[in-house]
Amino acid sequence: MERIMGGGMLPLVLTSVGVLLLYRILVRLRRGAPMHGAVVVITGASSGLGKECARVFHAAGARLVLCGRDAARLQEVVQELSGSSTDIQHQTFTPSTVVFNLVRADSVEKAAQEILKCYGHIDVLINNAGISYRGNILDTHISVQRDVMETNYFGPIALTQALLPSMVQRHSGHIVVISSVQGKIAIPYRSAYAASKHATQAYFDCLRAEISHLGIPVTVISPGYIRTNLSVNAVTGDGSKYGVLDKTTASGWDPRDVADAVLKAVRQKSKDVVLAGTVPTVAIYLRTLWPTLFFKLMSSRARKEQKHKDE
Ligand SMILES: NC(=O)c1ccc[n+]([C@@H]2O[C@H](COP(=O)([O-])OP(=O)(O)OC[C@H]3O[C@@H](n4cnc5c(N)ncnc54)[C@H](OP(=O)(O)O)[C@@H]3O)[C@@H](O)[C@H]2O)c1
Repeated sequence: MERIMGGGMLPLVLTSVGVLLLYRILVRLRRGAPMHGAVVVITGASSGLGKECARVFHAAGARLVLCGRDAARLQEVVQELSGSSTDIQHQTFTPSTVVFNLVRADSVEKAAQEILKCYGHIDVLINNAGISYRGNILDTHISVQRDVMETNYFGPIALTQALLPSMVQRHSGHIVVISSVQGKIAIPYRSAYAASKHATQAYFDCLRAEISHLGIPVTVISPGYIRTNLSVNAVTGDGSKYGVLDKTTASGWDPRDVADAVLKAVRQKSKDVVLAGTVPTVAIYLRTLWPTLFFKLMSSRARKEQKHKDE
């Protein structure tokens, strides 16, 4: 046996171990940063994409802090996740919740302190909460433009700025924001929403550059339509609820697939991710490379939508 090991077997065993180690390293690199035990904060976790993100990060073993305005709905999510834990092989953690309204600056400050108290630090902040808008600029009250900006822009940046010092102190952390394809191209009758998402893209692009030397990545995720209640919860020009599940939203991506893509982007520390089909992706390029054609297409879309409304 000794003779066999010394002669032919030893190099074979060493090579096999080497190949196995290399394979495991490659798999790990592809999968990216492990999530087990990571403290992940998700805003807007009571429904839609936020709830699905809660599900995938919980299943990956993250310690979650779920945020929203409605304590009862957040508790329902906690119950659902705790019930699903038996199907998961590794250890999972019961999520914590922090209830606050993003549009109130004082409550955001207080919430940030509460969030930090949950586990003493945070590893990933996912700014997901948001609200949409449907309306004609001519008929839209300026207060509605401001309100959408408060929820989609000032809220997330206030929370980010309140939590960032703790990440800087630890030289560790990750900031994520769920923007939209409408943060890259502006679509008629969505002014307040598109403007708030364009502002979001700009702010987090600046932040990425400013904190890159600290090793804190910033990920902007821009999905196309997702099958959630976003259009139902949207506001109109007079501030009332739109209340309609648009066809485009109803036929959008499954929120589970988008949540899986968010997890992948976090693990791989991606900088900017567009999650959309061919038409919106081409439109994003067209806006930069052939703007005159893009503007023509948007004008024609606006006329068609107006005609449809008048009928
Ligand atoms: N659905 C799409 O087609 C689509 C496409 C691209 C991007 N997105 C983005 O995806 C994100 C999630 O939206 P969704 O599609 O999942 O819609 P959703 O089901 O309506 O969820 C929105 C979430 O935001 C929370 N929220 C709204 N206003 C808030 C406020 N003032 N303070 C705190 N939380 C607030 C809501 O929580 P409570 O009401 O319980 O407080 C809810 O959990 C948004 O940023 C949206 O812009 C969606």
